Amino acid sequence: MVIKPKVRGFICVTAHPAGCAAHVQQQIDYVKSKGPVRDGPKKVLVLGASTGFGLASRVTAAFGSGAATLGVFFERPSEDGRLATPGWYNSAAFTRAALDAGLYAKNINGDAFSDAVKRQAIDLIKADLGQVDLVVYSLASPRRTHPRTGATHKSCLKPIGAPYTNKTVDTDRGIVSDVTIEPATETEIADTVAVMGGEDWEMWIDALLEAGVLAPGATSVAYSYIGPEVTWPIYKNGTIGTAKIDLERAAKKIDAALKAHGYGRAFISVNKALVTQASSAIPVVPLYISILYKIMKAKGLHEGCIEQMQRLFATQLYNGSALAFDDGGRVRVDNWEMRPDVQAEAAKIWPQVTTENLAALTDIEGYRSEFLRLFGFGLPGVNYDADYEPHVPMPE
Ligand code: NAI
Ligand code: NA
Repeated sequence: MVIKPKVRGFICVTAHPAGCAAHVQQQIDYVKSKGPVRDGPKKVLVLGASTGFGLASRVTAAFGSGAATLGVFFERPSEDGRLATPGWYNSAAFTRAALDAGLYAKNINGDAFSDAVKRQAIDLIKADLGQVDLVVYSLASPRRTHPRTGATHKSCLKPIGAPYTNKTVDTDRGIVSDVTIEPATETEIADTVAVMGGEDWEMWIDALLEAGVLAPGATSVAYSYIGPEVTWPIYKNGTIGTAKIDLERAAKKIDAALKAHGYGRAFISVNKALVTQASSAIPVVPLYISILYKIMKAKGLHEGCIEQMQRLFATQLYNGSALAFDDGGRVRVDNWEMRPDVQAEAAKIWPQVTTENLAALTDIEGYRSEFLRLFGFGLPGVNYDADYEPHVPMPE
């Protein structure tokens, strides 16, 4: 079939198998172009491995350090002539490339929050790898069914305490308008913490430790975001930020557990704001990202997920010396985004943006093309008028 993008609000309901493969190949090529990440990870479990920061972490581990990777994700395979989700196509392309390069790569497509998937991962590690030395926790999900209570929690993106009004952009139509978001209820806050907080990360590490499949000295990392004050009511001080505080709580507990296990470690890396399926659903943030991209590209500071993760691995995780922590014990690869000169420009542009000057003052074009690339559209070397087979099996 000929596959075209079909954008519905903040998601695209189609995905291009060859385009997703080309997108993954670009990431592999980038990592290879940077040279090896020496003394890097050898056996890696990536939770949330199919898109965004998790996929970029997996590509960096595999093609930067030659690591064996086990990827866990929740994606829809292609069935009955229907298209798969981009994460499926990405993972199939990654796995093919890794196997062709002689690297171990296996996948579990299922609910990472469940006990069953944790058991499946442990069994696979035992059978194939023995132990893993790095666990990347990069899940972003709208819901979580709790493995003990059976309750399904839904996360939300809302302010806390008071309504929040600010500018937002309809990225599809290019319309800038004010949006008011009502504050979250106590239940909504607790539900968001249950989904995006640290409990599941702790459950993973507990299960892996108990099963003896974490190598002594193993590292675990999870990702967070802070950003500028203009987004704080909806992000840092909102429901998602409250969940990230819980993630930091979990990081300290996990760090202590891993320290006791052969002097390992766990930490949070604060990453840059980037276009991913998760971030496009947050009000206000896509407008900020469009402004940020304009400024960072002009200054030669722009990075995507792969540049961020390659830098995290090469200069922090495996740089042969100590990690550079901030006051809160976090690693900051958002340091270029948060540079005072970058933020001063963003703060200057923010109040000026309207529907009429959106294209001139922001990189809305860059936002849109990066958004479409998440679904495999707009990649060089792909003929988007040609027929493609929607069914792509996972290579084994
Ligand atoms: P994403 O939406 O691109 O990736 C989410 C991943 O989680 C996918 O692999 C998906 O298959 C997997 N997943 C979701 N539910 C699952 C389930 N129940 N079981 C198994 N896998 C499941 O998201 P993104 O943006 O890469 O986010 C990853 C982390 O990075 C999140 O913690 C996010 O808050 C954080 N982050 C994101 C930033 C951004 O601007 N996008 C900035 C800084 C941090
Ligand atoms: Na991810």
